[in-house]
Amino acid sequence: MLPNGRAAAVIVLAAGEGTRMRSATPKVLHPLAGRPLVEHAVRAAAGLDPGHLAVVVGHGRDAVTEHLQTLSAPLHRHIAAPVQPEQRGTGHAVSCALDVLPTDLAGTVLVSYGDVPLLDTATLAGLLDAHHRARHAVTVLSATVADPGGYGRIVRDQDGEVTGIVEHHDATDAERGITEINSGVYAFDAAVLRSALGRLGTANSQGELYLTDVLGLARSDGLPVGAHRCPDPQLVEGVNDRVQLATLGTECNRRLLQRWMQAGVTVVDPASVRVDVDVELAPDVVLHPGVQLHTGTTVGEGAHIGPDATLSACTVGAGATVVRTHAVDAVIGERVSVGPFAYLRPGTVLAAASKVGTFVETKNASVGAEAKVPHLSYVGDATIGPGSNIGAATVFVNYDGVAKHHTTIGAHARTGADNMFVAPVTVGDGAYTAAGSVITDDVPPGAMAVARGRQRNVEGWVTRRRAGTLAAEAAAASDEAAAPDEVGPQHEQHPDPHPEQHPDPQHQERA
Ligand code: UD1
Ligand code: CA
Repeated sequence: MLPNGRAAAVIVLAAGEGTRMRSATPKVLHPLAGRPLVEHAVRAAAGLDPGHLAVVVGHGRDAVTEHLQTLSAPLHRHIAAPVQPEQRGTGHAVSCALDVLPTDLAGTVLVSYGDVPLLDTATLAGLLDAHHRARHAVTVLSATVADPGGYGRIVRDQDGEVTGIVEHHDATDAERGITEINSGVYAFDAAVLRSALGRLGTANSQGELYLTDVLGLARSDGLPVGAHRCPDPQLVEGVNDRVQLATLGTECNRRLLQRWMQAGVTVVDPASVRVDVDVELAPDVVLHPGVQLHTGTTVGEGAHIGPDATLSACTVGAGATVVRTHAVDAVIGERVSVGPFAYLRPGTVLAAASKVGTFVETKNASVGAEAKVPHLSYVGDATIGPGSNIGAATVFVNYDGVAKHHTTIGAHARTGADNMFVAPVTVGDGAYTAAGSVITDDVPPGAMAVARGRQRNVEGWVTRRRAGTLAAEAAAASDEAAAPDEVGPQHEQHPDPHPEQHPDPQHQERA
């Protein structure tokens, strides 16, 4: 045994095919709460800081091994991935793992499965502790369930002592009535395990080497064996098909939300909110109905998310509000307002108290403090300075069909509605642009840029060219109402369509 009752090794079985998933993806790589199933198992095991950690791989082993390698760095440890070339049973799988561990391995070996996502470090530690206290050679983690069908059953004698495990397929009717099941998680003395594995046979209904037989063999050797009942049977449930994947995913989410609520997060409607495991929420965050927070998302104190928002790998600052928004890899600063109906794409950085409003899409865009993009705009490859206001229906024209170009808007600029910024282009600090402008050239600081066709009114055109239409009638009625009965002062027939340009960009301010 390692010091402090640590486990010498944890072996996670993950070689099975997972036929019932009916998937091209190996079963243990299907995600649940943002992590592949096998990652849940590996993190639970790594939490014990065992001497060795081995995951037995078989079906889809290249993809599974590749994922395991990505976990080495964050978990600061080596993860062995022994191969079980053919699935000849759980006993055989454990033998394959022992083959890559030191031959003189001594102490306690834990075995668990790669498809049991809710099994946590605390439960494994409880098993290890019970095993050590009872000085058992083998301790199985058992659970009492209402429907034990399919599971191996824990067989006990008249004194209640565990005598063995019988598989469902090999069980008598009486044994099938037993509701205490084998979770498939065990603590073994390393030497006992090695000795018993060498003696396993295949004389059973499935012709496999059953790990469960180790318990009976140890008992016949006169060694102490026992069961440690898991008080929370849902923790040992496995995923065999996509129905169980969904059921356990919902259960995992329920538990995560419960923990967040206890930590000071308001979840208005837990049934409609999903959060991945790797999400951080500060106190007084409010999650409104219809919110999904995916891996890598952190939300600061007092921020309101939703209703109806999906955030992946986003950072949300304190006091921000994010309503009906889809956001990926975005940084949303403190007191920022996003949505309703915004799409924030990777590289979006919204500085404090800025605003991205309704029907706005951003990508690789930096919006300065207190700057606003309130309505109907696309902001791609852009830097907007602090305090600037972008008029409604603006497009940052970033793509020339071949390459992407950048637009820079200075500080406290006021750009008119319906502008196009044809990148690369720069609008200086404090500059204005007129509504409807297509800005192709740089605008100096403090200048007003007007880049649009001039308006020309062709008087009387409808009366002449659309006679008899409702439009012509309306125009005539309007003329009569405006013209006094007696001949009054003539209306100016051809007012100058371009009086001294009135520099009103009709910018949309803080709407
Ligand atoms: C096993 C147990 C059963 C227990 C149940 C709990 C045995 C003989 N039976 O049954 O008592 O109640 O788990 O879920 O152990 N695996 C391999 N290589 C193999 C076979 C399996 O890696 O050759 C892995 C699978 O990927 C899976 C786990 O071991 O993660 C369990 O295999 P599975 O075939 O589902 O075992 P069960 O028949 O459910
Ligand atoms: Ca199973």
